[in-house]
Amino acid sequence: MRRFTESGHDVTVIPTEAALKFVGAPTWAALSGKPVATDVWTDVHQVPHVRIGQSADLVVVAPATANVLAKAAHGLADDLLTNTLLTARCPVVFAPAMHTEMWEHAATRDNVATLRARGALVIEPAEGRLTGADTGKGRLPDPAEIFETCVEILSRGTAAGTDLVGRHVVVSAGGTREYLDPVRFLGNRSSGLQGYALARAAVARGAEVTLVAANVALPDPAGVKVVRVETTAQLRDEVLSAATSADAVVMAAAPADFRPVDVSAAKIKKADDGSAPAIQLTQNPDILHEISTERPRPGAVVVGFAAETGDATGSVLDLARAKLARKGCDLLVVNDVSGGAVFGSPDNEAVILGADGSAVDVPRGTKAALAHEIWDQVALRLAR
Ligand code: CTP
Repeated sequence: MRRFTESGHDVTVIPTEAALKFVGAPTWAALSGKPVATDVWTDVHQVPHVRIGQSADLVVVAPATANVLAKAAHGLADDLLTNTLLTARCPVVFAPAMHTEMWEHAATRDNVATLRARGALVIEPAEGRLTGADTGKGRLPDPAEIFETCVEILSRGTAAGTDLVGRHVVVSAGGTREYLDPVRFLGNRSSGLQGYALARAAVARGAEVTLVAANVALPDPAGVKVVRVETTAQLRDEVLSAATSADAVVMAAAPADFRPVDVSAAKIKKADDGSAPAIQLTQNPDILHEISTERPRPGAVVVGFAAETGDATGSVLDLARAKLARKGCDLLVVNDVSGGAVFGSPDNEAVILGADGSAVDVPRGTKAALAHEIWDQVALRLAR
């Protein structure tokens, strides 16, 4: 709630009776600057049970219990929150939090499926420590990340939609490391920001998202299954295994193309004579090429990235067209990286080339905006 109010949103808090056992009404009233009610009988002259839902741009239920999901799925309306859920015509986001057994129960599964089929966004809970001594799936994602998902939805306004519901997408992000010894590696400058933006955008559009992250120092996006890897070999294994059930694979990672032939088990020492060791490298597998040619799941859309500077043999776009053909993917997102401008930057601009000859220019904007353009192109191809 703080993140919404501090970023200028007008927030009405509607706690359930149960929620007030955790945080009291005075706290909500003081933080939101508005009176707080749980029932439909307070300030009846303002008809709050209809007015709040009708005027909202977004309804967020966080944390959402198994009970509130069940009520929402069945249209029960016995308090102000459930009434609001029936009158809201804006996007609705549920961020469930409960014990693993409750989340996995057939009743909850059915309720979640019903809500998703109706267009609500139900964010997958995170895995980790739960309220008791147990650990498992059911944790509330990081509130900052739930907020980011909500901002995505608000920023898309009427274009917001859950066009990737029922789709599983795999995104790779970050840069791989190839070890020379236990403490040294060859790495690259990829920050993972674009891959994380893609994962977030896919969640906001309703997809089940697997994010294979290589050495990324960013918090897990809400609703995303994050698989952490270090080397290109590990990235390949995880992406290929997830790709067998994926409708789309987006290779936003920067896998190292080469790895040292020998990895020293002990730290390499400096020689007294001032000489330096020679490092012999061997090529890593090209994951994008492998997925594009072997197609672990027929019909899946495969997307690659190309960071190009252009050279004496051709312009950025010439080289990118050649790369698209060489890799065999369906879409290639082309960044002009002359000057290293894109690394770690919140902004990006690109051209999205299609194997069908299409070219979509995406002007300079946020990585989130580019992510949505990419999913637009993917969704178009999935619908064909
Ligand atoms: N890629 C991959 N596996 C690799 C290297 C790259 O899957 N071992 C993917 C990247 O994730 C990206 C795309 O291939 O989606 C383009 O990577 P890039 O390094 O630009 O292409 P290369 O084939 O390495 O060509 P270049 O010679 O221009 O570096």
